[in-house]
Amino acid sequence: MTVSGRLKLWWKHAVIYQIYPASFCDSNGDGIGDLPGITSKLDYIASLGVDVVWICPMYDSPQVDMGYDISNYEDIYPPYGTLQDMETLIREAHARGMKIMLDLVINHTSDLHPWFKESRSSKDNSKRDWYIWRPAKYSPTGQRLPPNNWRCKFGGDSVWEWDEQSGEYYLHLFAKEQPDLNWENPATRKALYASAMEFWLERGVDGFRIDTVNMYSKPPGLPDAPELDPGAPYQVADMLYCNGPRMHEFLSEMNQILAKYGAITVGELPSTPDMARVLQYVSAEAKQLDMVFQFDIVNVGFNRPLRYDAKPKDWQLPEFKEAVARTQNLIKGTDAWTTVFLENHDQARSITRFADDSPQHRVASGKMLALLQACLSGTQYIYQGQEIGAINVPEEGYPLENYIDVSSCLYLDFIRQHRNGQGMDKALTSLAHFARDHPRVPMVWNGKAKYGGFSEEAEKAGKEVKEPWMKPHPLAGQIDVASQLDDPHSVLAYWRKAVRFRKEYADLLVYGDYRTLREEDKSIYTFVKEPPSNGSVKAVAAFNFTGEERNWEKPTVEELKIEEGADVKFMPIMSSYDGKIGEGALRPYEGRVYIASW
Ligand code: GLC
Ligand code: CA
Repeated sequence: MTVSGRLKLWWKHAVIYQIYPASFCDSNGDGIGDLPGITSKLDYIASLGVDVVWICPMYDSPQVDMGYDISNYEDIYPPYGTLQDMETLIREAHARGMKIMLDLVINHTSDLHPWFKESRSSKDNSKRDWYIWRPAKYSPTGQRLPPNNWRCKFGGDSVWEWDEQSGEYYLHLFAKEQPDLNWENPATRKALYASAMEFWLERGVDGFRIDTVNMYSKPPGLPDAPELDPGAPYQVADMLYCNGPRMHEFLSEMNQILAKYGAITVGELPSTPDMARVLQYVSAEAKQLDMVFQFDIVNVGFNRPLRYDAKPKDWQLPEFKEAVARTQNLIKGTDAWTTVFLENHDQARSITRFADDSPQHRVASGKMLALLQACLSGTQYIYQGQEIGAINVPEEGYPLENYIDVSSCLYLDFIRQHRNGQGMDKALTSLAHFARDHPRVPMVWNGKAKYGGFSEEAEKAGKEVKEPWMKPHPLAGQIDVASQLDDPHSVLAYWRKAVRFRKEYADLLVYGDYRTLREEDKSIYTFVKEPPSNGSVKAVAAFNFTGEERNWEKPTVEELKIEEGADVKFMPIMSSYDGKIGEGALRPYEGRVYIASW
């Protein structure tokens, strides 16, 4: 599998922009983002240098988990629009040279999907076996118990839900309204491929982000998980239900369809820290997925077993570097490909988590993180709002009632029920830092307009405009698209510049090999990007993760791994600060890139 050069393909140097439909742009004033709203912003998206637009689930759904609970793969959630609106969106994106990627959610459906309704209706229904049903266990005293001790991904309750009417439990790794499909049944898989994949590929969709891509094959016998959280009613079991024995057989089967359409794929790959295991998904030879989202970086600062049992910023820079290095090194000496991302709809804002979101430093932080990502190998993803330097909603001015994400709510329920409310303050502080609500507040198009301009077009057309489905960002007046569009010093202007820079130096920045220097440095992050085979140029990037000016020494020949005595020239080519690219000390939250040649 060792390769000397690296195969270049369009989707590898593509920039992919992720849209959360409910929160992107509302065209008709009902307070919910929609497909015509997305279409109306395609020029804006294209102007960032974006090649592919990934749209989070827009399918019909009762929205228990914001569309990750699908009740009909072949229709649109009515508030978002119609199939025709989707066709228009696909056509208009293509007309601008951009591709469309959809979210493929096939580990589970909604409990309101007709398949599940049938499956639930009786034990001998022909679709009973399309989901995972098991009889109860009983304790010695006759108490009814779930079939095993697995803990669900949201909150801390069981993955099993008792169905009174048919007298069995069904499995749901996520919320109880998201029953897991039974992938062991070939008829289920066939129906799923036709409905969730082919239906959309036939309509011109160019690829999929594949949700929870490693959970479809459950371990035979569904054995109990080890007791890592002593005394807890249920135990984390991802090591059992992720990467199950038939995963690759299923992915190969899916690929026979995807390949016919030349669809690109990126899989969400949680709970897989072992790189050899990751490679089985993304090595080109294995033909499983084009790329995956690993969790190494976005998990920095989270806790295990319960991710929100964590203190804000309880990590140090070396940990972050290590996480980046792991995902970068996936491609070193292999035929695999990787991804670059710091945000998505499940993660709080990166400026808040990894840099400094105070008024003094947040712009510099946003630009520095933009440059950092521009320098990393892999396909780059940008989450809506990241390009304007969006930060978390502040603790003050955004009370807890406004947090409505199912995982936030179930976590608080867990604390109330299983910890008797103890540690509630800590939980609230944690959610203010980590909750999935942060990236989901409405996009701020115009801080001077009503609701941050979320429904601006409807308002201009004289329509009555409702309050958005989630409370708008309290800092809308300070961080918005409109004011940044004409401001050459804005985070938005910088992101455009960073994307151009990345594409200009793609050989090193997108396709190069990555190497961390000075791993232990707690203030400055320095790394080298070098050609996979020999060359006489390297890129050197340095990022000051503190609010103070810091001295930084250029790397030695030893660090650069070039022969002793070579006359190395360092040419500064990019800084996250405006103006002449400085030499010498790095300013607060400054990132800087040099080309080293000899
Ligand atoms: C993925 C999605 C997340 C969702 C979950 C269940 O992790 O990104 O938003 O809640 O799958 O489908
Ligand atoms: Ca709307």
